[in-house]
Amino acid sequence: MVRQLVGVFIILTAGALVLLAVHFFGSRPGLVAEEAMQTAAPQQPKDVFEFERARARKTELSGRLGEDDGFSAAIFFGGDILGSLEVCGCPKNPLGGVARRQGYIRLFAERYPGVPFLHVDTGYFFSDRVDPMTGDLAEDVVVGNEWVIRAYEHMKLDVVNLSYHDLPQLARCFRLEEFRRHAAETPVVKRFLSANVRSREASYANPQPYVIRELSGGRLNGRTLRIGLIGVTEAGNYRGREFSISDPLVAVRSLLPQVRARSDLVVVLAYLSPEMIESLARENPQVDVILADVGRPLWLSPKTIGRTYIAYSAYQTKLLGELRLYGEEQGGRWKVLARYVELDGLIPDDPAVEALRAEARHELAAVQRRLAERAMAASRRTRHTASGDGATFVGSRACQPCHASAYAVWTTSGHAHAFATLQKAKRENDPQCLACHVTGYEQPGGFLNVFSTPRLKDVQCEACHGPASRHLEDPTRPYGKVGVPEGCLPCHTRENSPDFEPLSYWAKIKH
Ligand code: HEC
Ligand code: HEC
Ligand code: HEC
Ligand code: HEC
Repeated sequence: MVRQLVGVFIILTAGALVLLAVHFFGSRPGLVAEEAMQTAAPQQPKDVFEFERARARKTELSGRLGEDDGFSAAIFFGGDILGSLEVCGCPKNPLGGVARRQGYIRLFAERYPGVPFLHVDTGYFFSDRVDPMTGDLAEDVVVGNEWVIRAYEHMKLDVVNLSYHDLPQLARCFRLEEFRRHAAETPVVKRFLSANVRSREASYANPQPYVIRELSGGRLNGRTLRIGLIGVTEAGNYRGREFSISDPLVAVRSLLPQVRARSDLVVVLAYLSPEMIESLARENPQVDVILADVGRPLWLSPKTIGRTYIAYSAYQTKLLGELRLYGEEQGGRWKVLARYVELDGLIPDDPAVEALRAEARHELAAVQRRLAERAMAASRRTRHTASGDGATFVGSRACQPCHASAYAVWTTSGHAHAFATLQKAKRENDPQCLACHVTGYEQPGGFLNVFSTPRLKDVQCEACHGPASRHLEDPTRPYGKVGVPEGCLPCHTRENSPDFEPLSYWAKIKH
């Protein structure tokens, strides 16, 4: 009996203690202050990207597919893959890649079997990186671009809009005999689209100015939805001789009457500056939708100008655009609404496209290795040139005797094994990755490749402080002033270091 009472007492006391603890810790002044701050200034998403990410984190795969709000057709849109089939090389929450893009579309087709859809690209799908020695497209770029064509063929893209960045590669695959071969093997090249890119010579094929695609079946209830697609690009820095680029706004205006007459929905794929995109909408109320691409990592929310709905592609298709079409509204216009699907690890790869990506990677790694070896042979013949003031890179080890503590901090930092990170990812010869993971990339006397300049791999002292040979000769000369965050931002970009914050990052490598 006594024992039972004691037992009950212990339970009650324990309960009271728990309650007390909850009360006490739950009302710590710090927490209250934080809560008050949050209610005072609710965290507004900075842009559509932040917004979608915040929402995406809360959802499971089923949530990623969205609510079924009765839409009857869809257009998937992406852009700016810059010749890469890969998930982005960013460290935190890497996004994008063709395998996930197609993986999502597969899931969508299973979830919404009654919704017919198109899949389009808004431009900059080829890389235009040139070899600094020849001024022509780099060899690995040409190989990678051909893989993009194969992937887009496999993914059955309905139309692919040409941006001016795509034209150097286009000059290779639109030479007539090449075009015929491509058209037979990868007919997607016949769906390359541009209303304002024309070949200058008869020996080149021309892209189609516009295309009318018909959707039917499922929720369209026996109707046929005719979608007219027009493509345009700005001229940018295109200097090639093969093509001419005319005024994109004039091109749209002159095509519009005939496309409008044959379509229920007119969509312009526009690789233009944000200002030109808005002018396009203002001057052409007959355009229903602009799928816009500003060619930069800049996330802009969809908007309506006049009667035209504008949705922007997400850079590198890290988020896949999904334009939903909702049947006809009053006045004969279709209601449309864009949503964005974050292509993160939650989205399963499409197995066939993933296999194609892996094959491309394998071939590219081999080509890039060969190029690096060739560059090594060439660099043995030519001596490194020094930078402007004559200083050259000497490597971190040379600093150790005089700056032992700074050196010690550096060796334990991530910067000291930034190259191993690329090796682990099998990208150590990939120019797309090297710039920020080595010292002095593409600078006179800086990192060339791992064979000829192994001592300049990793983010060494001179990646931030600049070439130091003159400083070694005379340490009293002014040298190496770097600021935070200016000195960090060239590498700690929003893309590659989304959580970068100057104070806490500097605290980790302070020396
Ligand atoms: C022979 C010794 C010696 C070596 C080797 C040396 N330094 Fe220094 N360094 C100095 C001295 C001494 C100063 C201080 C000069 C002064 O305050 O006038 C200095 C200053 C600096 C400063 C601060 C400059 C400023 O204006 O605040 C930086 C940055 C720096 N060194 C970077 C490096 C790096 C990077 C290396 C290796 C690539 C290196 N140093 C190698 C001796 C050396
Ligand atoms: C614009 C500069 C830049 C480019 C280009 C770049 N990176 Fe990075 N990378 C960074 C920075 C900065 C970090 C550190 C990010 C952080 O911790 O906030 C990083 C981190 C990483 C990490 C994570 C390392 C770790 O230990 O957490 C991997 C993996 C990586 N990069 C791979 C790649 C690959 C692969 C490529 C090429 C596709 C690439 N990076 C291109 C700047 C870059
Ligand atoms: C990631 C960039 C980065 C790297 C890598 C780096 N530093 Fe620095 N370093 C800085 C910045 C930024 C400052 C100035 C910070 C400030 O203004 O307080 C600095 C300051 C210094 C100073 C001056 C310190 C003082 O007291 O004024 C020296 C010396 C120096 N670094 C040497 C080195 C050496 C040696 C290495 C390599 C072992 C190295 N740093 C690597 C960014 C870097
Ligand atoms: C030349 C490109 C480059 C510059 C400039 C640069 N970083 Fe980094 N940083 C990187 C890369 C690449 C990584 C990822 C390294 C890895 O783990 O592979 C990284 C990682 C880091 C990390 C996380 C790794 C760790 O050591 O814990 C911190 C913190 C950091 N950088 C701070 C800074 C700061 C602060 C600056 C500016 C003063 C700066 N970085 C400038 C390329 C750079």
